[in-house]
Amino acid sequence: MRFFLVLLISFTPLLSEDFITKMEYAKMLYSNPRGIGCNKCHGEKGEGSIISEFVHKNKRVRLEAPNITNLSKERFFHALTTQHKVMPTYFLTWQEIDSLYYYVSSEVQK
Ligand code: HEC
Repeated sequence: MRFFLVLLISFTPLLSEDFITKMEYAKMLYSNPRGIGCNKCHGEKGEGSIISEFVHKNKRVRLEAPNITNLSKERFFHALTTQHKVMPTYFLTWQEIDSLYYYVSSEVQK
């Protein structure tokens, strides 16, 4: 009996450990990348969205965040390591960018 108790106690922490999947991690990062969430502009799944529409000097201006679900890895990495006019600059590691790429370009889960 004591043996089983010791066995049970020693394995309980392992069972209660909070594991998250690669996809869950990637999704979290997408909405909280140490800065404004990608989802705020590119939509929940990277499908893109209209950020704002307004009239400036009698011209209709539409501010759009592009769809980022079908980009090459090179293009994705390039976009996240350079500066843009509208999109903020992020300071992400290569692994983090890789996770974000995994999230938006994955067909599963969504
Ligand atoms: C404030 C809105 C905004 C946020 C937040 C934002 N983006 Fe963007 N993103 C844009 C806009 C707008 C563009 C088009 C380039 C430009 O004008 O900045 C763009 C361009 C891109 C591109 C290049 C698309 C292409 O066709 O080459 C990628 C990739 C991208 N964003 C990924 C992300 C990821 C990943 C995040 C989160 C870490 C993010 N963006 C956060 C607005 C945003």
